[in-house]
Amino acid sequence: MERKRILTGDRPTGRLHLGHYVGSIANRVKLQDSYECFFIIADVHTLTTRPEKQDIEQIPEHVREMTLDYLACGIDPERSVIYLQSAVAEVYELTLYFEMLTTVPRLQRIPSLKDMLQSAHLSEMPLGLLGYPVLQAADILMPRAHLVPVGKDNEAHVELTREIARRFNYLYGEVFPVPDVMVGDVPTLVGTDGEAKMSKSLGNAILLSDDAATVRKKVFGMYTDPKRISADVPGTVEGNPVFVYHEIFNPNKSEVEELASRYRAGKVGDVEVKERLAAALNAFLDPIRERRHAFEERSGYVDEVVYEGTLAMREEARKTMAMVRSAMGVAAIWNRISRKAEQVRKKREKAASES
Ligand code: TRP
Repeated sequence: MERKRILTGDRPTGRLHLGHYVGSIANRVKLQDSYECFFIIADVHTLTTRPEKQDIEQIPEHVREMTLDYLACGIDPERSVIYLQSAVAEVYELTLYFEMLTTVPRLQRIPSLKDMLQSAHLSEMPLGLLGYPVLQAADILMPRAHLVPVGKDNEAHVELTREIARRFNYLYGEVFPVPDVMVGDVPTLVGTDGEAKMSKSLGNAILLSDDAATVRKKVFGMYTDPKRISADVPGTVEGNPVFVYHEIFNPNKSEVEELASRYRAGKVGDVEVKERLAAALNAFLDPIRERRHAFEERSGYVDEVVYEGTLAMREEARKTMAMVRSAMGVAAIWNRISRKAEQVRKKREKAASES
């Protein structure tokens, strides 16, 4: 039986953090064997908020860092395709066709776009940013994917993708699967500062490539229960980022429980709770850091991975677009004209050679 397909990925904005890991990357690594996987490095998407030349110039380095993080987490290029969005030209064409099937008010209702507009400090919505989820639909449907593991913030984009797939199939015939979304065990990871979302631009992220000392320092700077001015004041565990991280990353459940009950009773200092969290996080990150270093040593390897993946994706995109153009009848327009023109030209050439 042919395996079903996954498409997911990230914008290359630099190194990845713990939020990326629990939101989506853990799922990718887990599903690599049961699905045929395509991982997109969505550099065209970065242009929706950062189209300046200096930003574009940084993309190659970001692609490299992100790919290293993928490999370090255990994404295996022997089994999965990792590719560069901007080098697969078909995505622009598919996006344009999908734009014909999407209304502006539908896009205006997607909350993530307003968030992106705000964090980019833009006063008015660029057309390209409004079309962000349509471009993402083209990414997802290009390899005709069935499943999309993403963070919570991308759920609405996959919902739009499902609508576009249904509408396309209804208008032109069955070409696309209607893909399912899969949100990670931790849909949104709280930041070290207690803000709702870990994000590099908010400066509240622990990177997968941070060294042990940096992780320890970030943990010691973490936001905890602000009402707890000394170790003997009973504290709140629920929603407290230090305990949220303990729950997720500390495999020693009895240690976490013990710390939590002492915290609630005002019988443990922040220092101890944080010291143990730093140890747990570093134990979790150590193998990732080790693999990252090993891949960094292999000169040109990362480039080769992205290069080979992109060539494979181009092949896939060529197949999908042939299906799309034929289903829509777009292919037939040019075919009719060119066939007729070629006949006429041949006739003329023949007549010329005979006279
Ligand atoms: N929107 C994703 C992000 O927030 C990146 C992305 C682009 C993506 N195309 C995709 C994710 C297709 C999943 C599937 O960074």
